[in-house]
Amino acid sequence: MERRFACAADDLQPGSSLTVKGEPAVALFRNTAGEFFATADSCTHELWSLGEDSDLEGNEVLCPLHMARFDIQTGKPLCFPATVALQTYAVEVDDNGSVHVLVT
Ligand code: FES
Repeated sequence: MERRFACAADDLQPGSSLTVKGEPAVALFRNTAGEFFATADSCTHELWSLGEDSDLEGNEVLCPLHMARFDIQTGKPLCFPATVALQTYAVEVDDNGSVHVLVT
C-alpha cells in the first residue's frame, strides 16, 4: 500500500476536487461538509479526469463528458452511461493538516 501525499487540507475548498498524480491517478474530493473522499481519477465510462473536471453535488460527482454520476463514498455508478464502479481509496488527514490517499 502506498500512502501518497495529496495536498494541504486548506488547499482544497469544500465542493471541489483535484487529481493526485501517480500510478494510478486518484481523484480527491471534498464535499460541502468538509469531508474528503478519494476514487480512481478516470471515469469508468471513457477516459476523463474527474479530479480535474467534474461537478460535485453533495456526495455525487457528475462527469461532464456524458453526464454519468457516481457516489464518491462508494464509487457506485448512479446512472447511465456508467455501469462500472470507481475504485475507492481511504483518505487520512494528519495532525499537520496534510491529506494523504492510501493507494492499494
Ligand atoms: S466519460 Fe464520463 S460519462 Fe462518459
